[in-house]
Amino acid sequence: MEIFTTGSNELDSLVGGFRPGNMILIVGHPGAGKTTLASKICYSNTLANKRCLYLTFYEDKDKLFYNMVRLGIRLDEAESRGLFKYIRLPVSSAEEIMDALTNIIAKNRYDVVVIDSINVALELYERKEGQRALLLNFFYQIAQLINGLLVAVAEIPFEKESLELGSIEFIADAVLYLKHRNVHGLLSRILEVRKLRGVPLSIAELPFSIVEGEGIKIYLHPRLERVLREGGLIRGTLEFTRQLLEPVRKGDVVYVSYPPTARTPIVAIPFIDLLVTNNFKGFFLSYRYSKDEILEAHIAALTRYTDLAREDAVKLLNGYLHIESLNPTNYSIPHLHAITIEFIEKINPDLVMFHGVEIFRCIADPQKYWTTLINEMLWLKNIGKLVVRFGSRVDPYWHKMNASLSEKIIDLRYRYEKGRVIPIIYSWGRGREPSIIEVNEEILAKLREEIRKLLPPTP
Ligand SMILES: Nc1ncnc2c1ncn2[C@@H]1O[C@H](COP(=O)(O)OP(=O)(O)O)[C@@H](O)[C@H]1O
Ligand SMILES: [Mg+2]
Repeated sequence: MEIFTTGSNELDSLVGGFRPGNMILIVGHPGAGKTTLASKICYSNTLANKRCLYLTFYEDKDKLFYNMVRLGIRLDEAESRGLFKYIRLPVSSAEEIMDALTNIIAKNRYDVVVIDSINVALELYERKEGQRALLLNFFYQIAQLINGLLVAVAEIPFEKESLELGSIEFIADAVLYLKHRNVHGLLSRILEVRKLRGVPLSIAELPFSIVEGEGIKIYLHPRLERVLREGGLIRGTLEFTRQLLEPVRKGDVVYVSYPPTARTPIVAIPFIDLLVTNNFKGFFLSYRYSKDEILEAHIAALTRYTDLAREDAVKLLNGYLHIESLNPTNYSIPHLHAITIEFIEKINPDLVMFHGVEIFRCIADPQKYWTTLINEMLWLKNIGKLVVRFGSRVDPYWHKMNASLSEKIIDLRYRYEKGRVIPIIYSWGRGREPSIIEVNEEILAKLREEIRKLLPPTP
């Protein structure tokens, strides 16, 4: 049997696509993303050479095409390939709408028909339940008639909480309810699968976002049984890296913490080593500092603890680090998760570093945060990334949670001795005993000597 894509790989993997004869209902308030989802379903199916008809009473074609292009939904291209047809029907009587539709479908073969939205047609029969049922029945039969997919979009007015369009929810084979909520002033989008005939579903609410170049992007929580357990070993060049980190594998989460009162960048050195030694791409996402500040911190790590010249440090970092900064108070936790996934899919780094993770202690709802974090870490593990999370120890509970969710722990502390401050690094990892490294003169001398091995050979 032919299967129609839902427009999302994630949703396809969950529901197995739609089947010929299915009527799908997309419901939501204005701005929820109904038109975007309907267009995405259309466009994705035209990529499989299905023919789509987009019927509307209100949407302006140019506006629709323009908006969708920015979201990577190239209705214009589908149209020029002859696989997409846009028709705007006049708002007339229900009989005229049915006649017009029958004619259109009789003239051309379509596999997918979208009606965006059905409100207008159904509202013509506001007070006549029997007539409305007739129209509904007509819509329902379109799917059977074309032996394809009917996607009906229904809008819920702002002031209402549910559809009041008769029995349409009962007739539909699938009901996708798009919601957008204001969570502490931040936008958070959810796709709720209200109903799906013939598919057992355990997850009803799927977070999603509307992103440039992609349109609707749904986030599925990874399944634990699929998680990569044992990734390949990663080695550095420096003895310091060996002492602090090894053995370290792809898929590991390393938690690096320091006191909030002295956050020296010495703990960045092993990761710079891993990047350079393995020719890795590193993605560094800071929730606290600007891109420039982060770059400076990395330069400082190299120049302060070794006698590397600044220009050598810059040269060394060049090409290995992609730095981004996000102010986390601008986004809801699911949205931040969405942006992070976007970055990682685009950049495709080997090493992912998060900086300033302590900030969530004071801005996020803990349950939402830990749930999202656990899933984000599982997702990163699944795709074999080495993850490093840098944070201040601002709160014992959050520190312990961060530690317990990681395979490797690096705790930077300080000891005072004869007027000097000496870094002490506690290090533990799965598969080894904990150790404490005092960053004494001997270790620093070794570091100074070995760091040159990382520099590109001088011609
Ligand atoms: N380029 C874009 N990037 C991110 N979000 C976008 C973009 N274009 C539109 N949106 C979002 O999509 C939403 C509109 O979606 P739409 O599918 O028209 O909603 P509906 O049909 O349910 O009213 C808006 O809320 C807007 O925030
Ligand atoms: Mg719309």
